[in-house]
Parts: sequence; C-alpha cells; structure tokens
Amino acid sequence: MMSPSTYQPSAPAYTVPGLKPDTAAEVIFLLQDRLNALNDLALTLKHVHWNVVGPHFIAVHTMFDPQVDSVRVMVDDVAERIAALGGSPVGTAGALVRQRDWDDYAIGRADTHTHLAALNIVYGAVIEAHRAAIYETEKADPVTQDMLITQARYLEQFHWFVRAHLDPGTGTPVTREAHDEQAAAERGRNGTATRVQEARRAPAPWRGGPRAGGR
Ligand SMILES: [Fe+2]
Repeated sequence: MMSPSTYQPSAPAYTVPGLKPDTAAEVIFLLQDRLNALNDLALTLKHVHWNVVGPHFIAVHTMFDPQVDSVRVMVDDVAERIAALGGSPVGTAGALVRQRDWDDYAIGRADTHTHLAALNIVYGAVIEAHRAAIYETEKADPVTQDMLITQARYLEQFHWFVRAHLDPGTGTPVTREAHDEQAAAERGRNGTATRVQEARRAPAPWRGGPRAGGR
C-alpha cells in the first residue's frame, strides 16, 4: 500500500449518488494504489517481453502482449472509476514512483525461467493487494468491488499462465518458498539448470544407456 505521507486524499466535492464524500475519498485512495500497481505491471510485462531470451523465447515473448493489453484496460477502468467518484487519477510516472512502496523490477536480459520466476512473485503481490482491496470495498462501495473482482479473475488467470511454466509436473513450482523477485529468479534459473543436468544424466533411449557427456 502507498505511504500515507506521499499521498493524502481529500474528500471530493461531489461523488456518485448514495456514497458519502468521506467514503469516496477512502475508495479513491485505495484505487490510486491499484492504479499505480497496474500501471507498473503493464510496464513490467512489456519490459520482460523485450528482454526475455533463450529456449521457449517466442512462446513467452508473445504470451505477454495480450496480458499487457488486458492490464492496460484495467488501468483505464480504475482511473475512470476514480474520476467517476469525484477524484483525480494520478497517472504520471514520477507520481507512481513517489507513491509506490515496492522496488522497480530489477532483471534485464535473462532467460525465460528467470523472468517467469520473478513475474510469479510480481503477480502474486499484485493479486494479494487486489484481494485486500476487494475485502476493503465490500461495504464501502460494491460497484468498485465488482470491478476489482473482475480484474482479479483475469490477473489470477495470467498468474497461472506464468506459474504453469515453473511446474516440472510435480505440482510444486521450482521457485518453491522464494518470496522476492531476485530469490525466485535465482531458483528459476537453477531449476532450469537442474533439469538440464538431470536430462543429461538420464539414459538416452536411442542408446540404451547414459550419454557420454557434453551436448
Ligand atoms: Fe512486441
């Protein structure tokens, strides 16, 4: 959530019928944080789209464009909900950086598993905060809550798309208990290396025995 010291909402002069201005201010405050998170997510997904390399490049590269398009629609919906509530959505990059309490995505050019492992953490954090906002708007503004629920459904689907790449078939992602992007990225990278090593040790079916080593 945003630091209160960086963003202080004031009650709007008007809001939607049936909502008190003070309640609208609380919802606007909450939505500005979601706006920042979704704007950041859309930028991060494009950054990964441009920087991902290695095996499965084209599958992962092209997977992100529909996600970016969908998240950008969410950005617009959240910003216009703020405006409809009588607030002023803040969509500039400088304000986003001042208001957010998370770090910039830190990974540049890297293989698919490294980025997917890090994005698993990014999606997890965005969805967790979206769910918290859903619970907070339960009574305050069910119309806003309805919008957030719809968005969470798509975000959770996109999260699954990412996470499924990290599951070696055991039901447990290779990133396991990693809770930050860098640690998850490292585990994703190592998980890939481990599987390559295991594949090299495994009996080659066309020879009936282990491969001699190398490629
Ligand atoms: Fe592109």
